Amino acid sequence: MNGPGDLDNLLSQLCRAAENFKRDHNDLERLAALKAARKLVQALETPQEGALLTGVSPIQVLCVRIAIDIDIFTTLTKSNGPVSLKELAAVKNADPSFTERVLRVLAGIGYVIEHEVRVYAANAMTRYMSDPGAVAVLKFQFDVCMPLYSKAPEYFRETGFQTPLESNKGLFQYVEKTEESIWSLMSKKHEDMDGFYTHMAGRRANLPIWVDWFPVQERIIDGFEDKDGSGLLVDVAGGRGHDLERFRAKFPSARGRLIVEDLPQVLEGINSGSGIECQPIDLFEPQPVQGARAYYMKFVLHDWADRQSQQILQQLKVAMKKGYSKLLIEEVILADKDAEPIPSLGDWMMLAIHCGMERTQSHWEGLLTSTGFRVVRFWNPPSPGQQSIIEAEVA
Ligand SMILES: C[S@@+](CC[C@H](N)C(=O)[O-])C[C@H]1O[C@@H](n2cnc3c(N)ncnc32)[C@H](O)[C@@H]1O
Repeated sequence: MNGPGDLDNLLSQLCRAAENFKRDHNDLERLAALKAARKLVQALETPQEGALLTGVSPIQVLCVRIAIDIDIFTTLTKSNGPVSLKELAAVKNADPSFTERVLRVLAGIGYVIEHEVRVYAANAMTRYMSDPGAVAVLKFQFDVCMPLYSKAPEYFRETGFQTPLESNKGLFQYVEKTEESIWSLMSKKHEDMDGFYTHMAGRRANLPIWVDWFPVQERIIDGFEDKDGSGLLVDVAGGRGHDLERFRAKFPSARGRLIVEDLPQVLEGINSGSGIECQPIDLFEPQPVQGARAYYMKFVLHDWADRQSQQILQQLKVAMKKGYSKLLIEEVILADKDAEPIPSLGDWMMLAIHCGMERTQSHWEGLLTSTGFRVVRFWNPPSPGQQSIIEAEVA
């Protein structure tokens, strides 16, 4: 713990930030208050407590994962009032004393309310965790990522603590004993793919949507050259087309083709008839849609190391019309200092699964410049800590 003077400072920082947030209801102020609150907790925690809590933190994820399996969150959310331990355990015929051990941890981390002794109620966290998107995110973290993390120290010791440079020779391949990527393994199992896209939708659930804050009309639609068969917007590796659907909903009268591209097996899951065309691609092969107004790529390049990212960008550059086509990359931009926990932990997730990475602004600029692009502008979202849009064009 720090001295009493430090505590006074931290407390007044927190009070100021919380007052500002109460007054303005602005996300910037909320995040400032959260940061101040975290610093205060760190100052109050002894190093022993801090280290122990970090060491046992996987158990928190484990208990949340088991709670999903035994329907704790959905049962509490659906109930009109508090629910007894006995009733909660009975849902999946679990042992009540086992269930209580799960609930004790959940109450401690604020995922349920302990209404009375062995009687529980839902809070905002419980309700959030009963949403299929939130469930998919947690399952992905636990079922797919945790086994990788547990082997990561061994893998990095063996590779001399180097950043993997080849996307097919990383931790995922080491643990799964394969040379294939997670994408090619996942595409062979439909339930995994459904889970992944529910996960992606879940991650997005509370994030600002780019079409709501990026000046789409001015930067894309206004300069569009409307000739026969012209492409307005190509969503490169766009999954099942959710971002283009949002674009279409927001700009229903925009002219020009909207095209979602991804691996052929991913596009099979799309309902046709929405006015969005599907174009199967391989990111490393020539880009089939030439001279479109904009090529949008969201959460794609963070899946790849720099060398593979350059190859992907190179294919796009060849298809783009200089002085007209725009490249819009929607990604997190890591702060050089004081990075928020979610992006810096997300960087490790990308490293573990794909040999990928989150990048700082200068890293993005270097990557794009080295591939023959010019950054026009880094557009920051209204809510700090969320992904930005990097607007670039052929240099
Ligand atoms: C993290 S997801 C992002 C999807 C979408 N842009 C979004 O934000 O929801 C990455 C996407 O890249 C696709 N992908 C991976 N390897 C690919 C390849 N070689 N060619 C084309 N798409 C690929 C995956 O199928 C997946 O849909």
